[in-house]
Amino acid sequence: MKLVGIFGSPRREGNSDLLLEALLGEAEKSGASIVRVYASELKISPCTECSSCETTGKCIIEDDMQLVYEQLEDADAIVIATPIFFYHVPAQLKCLIDRAQALWARRRKHKAVDNAKNRKGYLIAIGATSGQKLFDGVRLTVKYFFDAIGAEYAGEVLVRGVEKKGDVLKHPDAMEEAKELAKRLLATGCNETV
Ligand SMILES: Cc1cc2nc3c(=O)[nH]c(=O)nc-3n(C[C@H](O)[C@H](O)[C@H](O)COP(=O)(O)O)c2cc1C
Repeated sequence: MKLVGIFGSPRREGNSDLLLEALLGEAEKSGASIVRVYASELKISPCTECSSCETTGKCIIEDDMQLVYEQLEDADAIVIATPIFFYHVPAQLKCLIDRAQALWARRRKHKAVDNAKNRKGYLIAIGATSGQKLFDGVRLTVKYFFDAIGAEYAGEVLVRGVEKKGDVLKHPDAMEEAKELAKRLLATGCNETV
């Protein structure tokens, strides 16, 4: 199984990184092949809505997103980990998500992506406050990102009330939940349909 982990925070080794690492470490132990994508360390320009991808199925912007496209198309499962920034994802991650429009065009208009692979997508999100609607925006965006890349939204770990770098380590229940998600993810597999 190939698992792509997308680190959405610009803060390295912050709370969402730690949760995603706990999940990936667990999956790695069980033999999954892991690819780590650090959104804030890649050069990914915003989508310019030039609509080229609708005609050709490809994004014309030649930057690091071209590598991400390859990894996403090859993945059996994808996990996005993100902090909440103003009830949404950080701008760096949003650029990556918007650029997935090319994969949507490829799938829906050009039928070019391997639709036989029933990919699964998972979300890890963490915020400092405790609001009821804290994860609503992120959950919707990530759901539609997964839809664009041909993945089914299959699970989530949502953690409230954590702010300072590394403070999630004081929440062993949350770390455990991330590891449990890895086990569930591996048990579900990628469900090849022929
Ligand atoms: C620019 C910015 C905006 C934020 N907006 C929110 C917010 O709307 N709601 C919230 O609960 N926390 C908010 N936070 C707090 C972070 O979500 C929180 O500190 C989180 O643990 C950071 O995760 P990280 O260490 O993975 O980056 C914000 C932090 C920053 C820097």
